[in-house]
Amino acid sequence: MKVFTVIGARPQFIKAAVLSRALQIVGKQKITEVIVHTGQHYDSNMSDVFFTELGIPKPNYNLGIGGGSHGQNTGRMLEKIEELLIIEQPDIVLVYGDTDSTLAGALAAAKLNIPVAHVEAGLRSFNMQMPEEVNRILTDQISQILFCPTDLAITNLEREGFNKKSVHMFQVGDVMQDSAVYYAPYAIKPKGFSLVDGFILATLHRAENTNNPERLAAIVTALNYLHHNVASVVLPLHPRTRKIIIEQGLTLDVHLIDPVGYLEMIWLLQHTGLVLTDSGGVQKEAFFFNKACVTMRDQTEWVELVEIGANTLVGAHTNKIIETVKLNLGRIVKDKDSLYGGGRAAEKMVQIILAYILGEL
Ligand code: UD1
Ligand code: UDP
Repeated sequence: MKVFTVIGARPQFIKAAVLSRALQIVGKQKITEVIVHTGQHYDSNMSDVFFTELGIPKPNYNLGIGGGSHGQNTGRMLEKIEELLIIEQPDIVLVYGDTDSTLAGALAAAKLNIPVAHVEAGLRSFNMQMPEEVNRILTDQISQILFCPTDLAITNLEREGFNKKSVHMFQVGDVMQDSAVYYAPYAIKPKGFSLVDGFILATLHRAENTNNPERLAAIVTALNYLHHNVASVVLPLHPRTRKIIIEQGLTLDVHLIDPVGYLEMIWLLQHTGLVLTDSGGVQKEAFFFNKACVTMRDQTEWVELVEIGANTLVGAHTNKIIETVKLNLGRIVKDKDSLYGGGRAAEKMVQIILAYILGEL
């Protein structure tokens, strides 16, 4: 049995690390995994570090396609992935999340009538301006197995009529919790890091913030204020944001560091006093490590965290960001209901993939 995995962006490496291991352990030599790295993320601290630290098998193919526009990246990936699918003839194609690599992998497979399994299916922000929303809706539409991380993701798909289609939907929990649980004991303090616990851990890279000069300026003002008046702001800066900050002539006067590996990121999550982010994955990781989260977006796919008061949406409003951070800094949040499945998602997904390939679903 052959599973063809398409990955290309940082969060996908972290998710694939756990599933690759489960494919090897639960699949008990019955499954061969072929890994394709599209090259969407290519700096060593956005890509190689995850393969080394997390022991992800070396990709069988690296397409080297990154740095272009959405259309360029997606189109070039589609063409190359199709060629590889014809050579490899897999039983199933596995895609993760909502990036351009996700859509390219799913679309190439669908055009060749190869079944697609989508990890993190059913998530919605209901904002079609986001490239991720377009990618995830289209990927769900052409997937045969929809691995949903939450009850709400299932509800979203049901509302879109998926329960009337001949596809398989499962609430398996969130594979990012599997990663957090598995790797937490191996956390590494970032080299040269000397701040005391209780700093604010920030990440910033979403197109809706970085590509909108007013939003970006308002966020930068808030981060600078917090750093000088409330608590040190530690910001492992995404290369996209670094480039735009320079282009816009903005001054980001916080504790800037280069993007870190996942084990270093876990250490920062364990030692921070609060997470301030526009990332999808980091919102949940704050929760996995019992930290309050303030999210610089207008919508989130992880609504349950807002509902239980673990996460607060503040958009890109300077004062709202500052006041909400002040209110939540140091607050501990607890996962009473095991909202994301507790770390067993990968195992469940592999059992389902096996059953599907064997025609037992
Ligand atoms: C992508 C995903 C986003 C995800 C994020 C994870 C899409 C549409 N977006 O956003 O959903 O949250 O990855 O981090 O797929 N760059 C580098 N080096 C790298 C990677 C990127 O310099 O290793 C720079 C390049 O200028 C590149 C830009 O960042 O053009 C944007 O990269 P891209 O992968 O298109 O989008 P992300 O913002 O990373
Ligand atoms: N991450 C990391 N190093 C960093 C920043 C983030 O390892 O410097 C991890 C983070 O812990 C999470 C994933 O990258 O597991 C989230 O990726 P990102 O925020 O880029 O994408 P998103 O989740 O928004 O798609």
